[in-house]
Amino acid sequence: MLKGTFPVEKFKTLQTPFYYYDVELLKETLNVVKSEAGKYNYHIHYAVKANANPRILSIIAENGLGADCVSGGEIQAALAAGIPSGQIVFAGVGKADWEINAGLDNHIFCFNVESLAELRIIDELAAIKGQVAPVALRINPEVDAHTHAKITTGMKENKFGINLGQLNTVIDELLQMKHVRLIGIHFHIGSQITDMSSFQNLSIRANEIQDDLEARGLYVENINFGGGLGIDYYHPNHLPVPAFDNYFAVIHKLLNVRPGQKIHFEPGRSIVAQCGSLISQVLYVKEGETKKFVILDAGFTELIRPAMYDAYHRIENISSSENTALYDVVGPICESSDVFGKEVELNKAHRGDYIALRSAGAYGEIMASQYNCRKLPKPYFSDTL
Ligand code: LLP
Repeated sequence: MLKGTFPVEKFKTLQTPFYYYDVELLKETLNVVKSEAGKYNYHIHYAVKANANPRILSIIAENGLGADCVSGGEIQAALAAGIPSGQIVFAGVGKADWEINAGLDNHIFCFNVESLAELRIIDELAAIKGQVAPVALRINPEVDAHTHAKITTGMKENKFGINLGQLNTVIDELLQMKHVRLIGIHFHIGSQITDMSSFQNLSIRANEIQDDLEARGLYVENINFGGGLGIDYYHPNHLPVPAFDNYFAVIHKLLNVRPGQKIHFEPGRSIVAQCGSLISQVLYVKEGETKKFVILDAGFTELIRPAMYDAYHRIENISSSENTALYDVVGPICESSDVFGKEVELNKAHRGDYIALRSAGAYGEIMASQYNCRKLPKPYFSDTL
């Protein structure tokens, strides 16, 4: 079985479970993103929600990426990591007043506005500060992302964005407001998208929307395509850096970019997923009547994706090279959903073996909880271990 390489000897001094980040891979991924986006002068705002670990954020900041934030806390984390406020975009259906004020006080690049009700409040709060807030309208483009229902966002029935049919009414009112300025349009159709036809359809829809806006005399300086590029959870070693070349090329080919217009992206998962693994140890191998269970010291408190989205993460026994057997790999949490994988082929497992749950750099550590009064997992980095 092809496995990632891990410094298992060094792991022996650490308390499991913990997150292990391959800093080289993160840097390589960032280099590819920068060079591929650079070909078309695309602007990249890393989606902080995927992983807000301060070290990870600071590496991303050093590489010159902006940030896509969805809360006041994420704005603070991005600024603390050194991401310039002028490269921060702020989305989210429920921005609280203090969060909007944090955006205004820090003069962020843009508010991605998700409803007329929110737009009115931004206008009001900006008026109090004597400012004009830069806004992009997040439009629900009705493009199917062909991904898991719980991470689909671009359809009418989702809570996100402004529906196409209501766009003109929102713009009519926006143009009357004195403390907001329309600087762009924003889309985000979902996450873990591997079918490029979704991005092709989004590009075509963006062209249609631009044509409609121009028909009413409006030119938008910025188009933001959101995030969503998927990764290969099944083969983390084959293509550890996602195919950004193809992704950007697909959009470049179809999108009609107007002179002077800036195109933005908000990738999260595709930047950080493959560089992170959750490292755990086997507590017990339990031989049931019909099944064998490997019981880990990590559970959904450390990685909730399998329980929450039925997500697949590749599981490797990095201590053993004995013949493989099939195990249900489960955690210690007192819930039946605390299962990482069923009928998983693992090298024969023993108590104390180190187990890597791969591709966990995105929506892993950041979604950890303290349920069952557990401690949050610590992060370790390949270059400082
Ligand atoms: N922009 C917006 C407005 C978003 O809502 C998201 C993700 C992104 C960008 C980044 O998308 P990405 O490139 O990472 O696909 N916890 C789930 C994923 C939730 C995604 C939420 N929004 C999971 O573990 O699969």
